[in-house]
Amino acid sequence: MKNQPLHYIDELFEFLRIPSVSAKKEHTEDCRKAAHWLIEKLKLAGITHMELVETEGNPIIYAEYFQDSSYPTVLVYGHYDVQPPEPLDLWKSPPFEPEIRQERIYARGACDDKGQLYMHVKAIEELLNENALRCNLKILIEGEEEIGSNSLERFVIANKEKLRADVVLVSDTSLISNECPSITIGLRGLCYLEVEVTGPNRDLHSGIYGGAVPNPINLLCEMIASLHDQDNRITIPCFYDDVAILSEEEQQEIAKVPFELVEYKKSLDLHDIHGEKGYNTIERTSIRPTLDVNGIWGGYIGEGAKTVIPSKAFAKISMRLVPDQDPDKITKLFTKHFQAIAPSSVSVKVTPHHGGVPVVVSTNTNAYRAASSAFEKCWGKTPIASREGGSIPIVALFKHTLGIDTLLMGFGLDEDAIHSPNESYGVFNFYKGIETIVAFYKEYGANSLK
Ligand code: BES
Ligand code: MN
Ligand code: MN
Repeated sequence: MKNQPLHYIDELFEFLRIPSVSAKKEHTEDCRKAAHWLIEKLKLAGITHMELVETEGNPIIYAEYFQDSSYPTVLVYGHYDVQPPEPLDLWKSPPFEPEIRQERIYARGACDDKGQLYMHVKAIEELLNENALRCNLKILIEGEEEIGSNSLERFVIANKEKLRADVVLVSDTSLISNECPSITIGLRGLCYLEVEVTGPNRDLHSGIYGGAVPNPINLLCEMIASLHDQDNRITIPCFYDDVAILSEEEQQEIAKVPFELVEYKKSLDLHDIHGEKGYNTIERTSIRPTLDVNGIWGGYIGEGAKTVIPSKAFAKISMRLVPDQDPDKITKLFTKHFQAIAPSSVSVKVTPHHGGVPVVVSTNTNAYRAASSAFEKCWGKTPIASREGGSIPIVALFKHTLGIDTLLMGFGLDEDAIHSPNESYGVFNFYKGIETIVAFYKEYGANSLK
């Protein structure tokens, strides 16, 4: 590979040392620090117009580089916030002290999304240095992606004119593998909620009352277990009503995705996999909806034993959605069903958190074709159009509010372990990503003059 300046990694390390965890109040100042740090780097890259937009949450960065109205405009999106690093004892090196081991950068955010976002800063810098950019740029970076993008959603709705562009460019997704490069064309939506089941008005002695009163943890477990049937299909009435049927072409594209079950199981130390009957692993993690408990708690979980029937039990539940499911409708269906299956001895409260609309983007665009050529040039292979299981809710908003398609050109790999302990990003993918982004701009700028 050509051009691999070492100082790019040193700079990324500075970024990774800022613990910009959006989920925690104690890191509010760190999020601001990350935003200021990025502004400095964008300036050094040659971007002239920059704004730090204050919000109710973490600041948004908006930057512009206008050259010529005959050039197409690319809106670059990314996020500087990261997931909480816990559990800390499972990290081999501390999450905010980046280090390289075996050609991989280890740190929280190394891939999601600081490493991938910083590739764009360096790609833009290289293009401007070479005077090779034939596009206008708008850059939009937020610090609340991992907690639902509330501030950015408001900003996008309030700034439709300002954000006008021909394509949104995002690196916040994964490749199928380095041997089988891909461009992401689909993301699942999300419906996230919390449930609370209440039994007696206080925690009780399990000997005095046990056997005669409802135990909310026992009952919550039963209710949750009933949400899937024997074929691992979700039992909420009407849940699948809006799931779109794949076209012939879409089925063919999915069938192209290589998959090795033995390796997959080995990478997760699993004896067997588990999922909806009638679908394979690729389908289960891309074009099918799911329901999962993310956390469950209640009663006594401290040291030793305490004989108690708890008053309350809680769970956080998420559903990944696919076209054309609607998160608001699914929230209503879930709530109604969960209330209906609750025994009369307990009361149930359902609180929605955040949601996201699923998306599929077109491959029949100048931007997709330019990205495909860039991959051919830099990776020597035509990329597969793949649908992924994760969610980036703002992508649907770009489509529905601004009318702009997003090009999801991400360079992560499943083994990067985003959101997990020991998140990492391959040094190869970092540099190769920069090269591919540069090639994309050259291709897109040359072929999209207005
Ligand atoms: N970058 C991820 C989404 C992603 C990862 C998409 C890999 C495709 C492949 C993003 O930062 C993320 O984690 N999104 C959240 C949703 C959000 C509303 C919390 C998710 O998917 O859980
Ligand atoms: Mn991300
Ligand atoms: Mn994430």
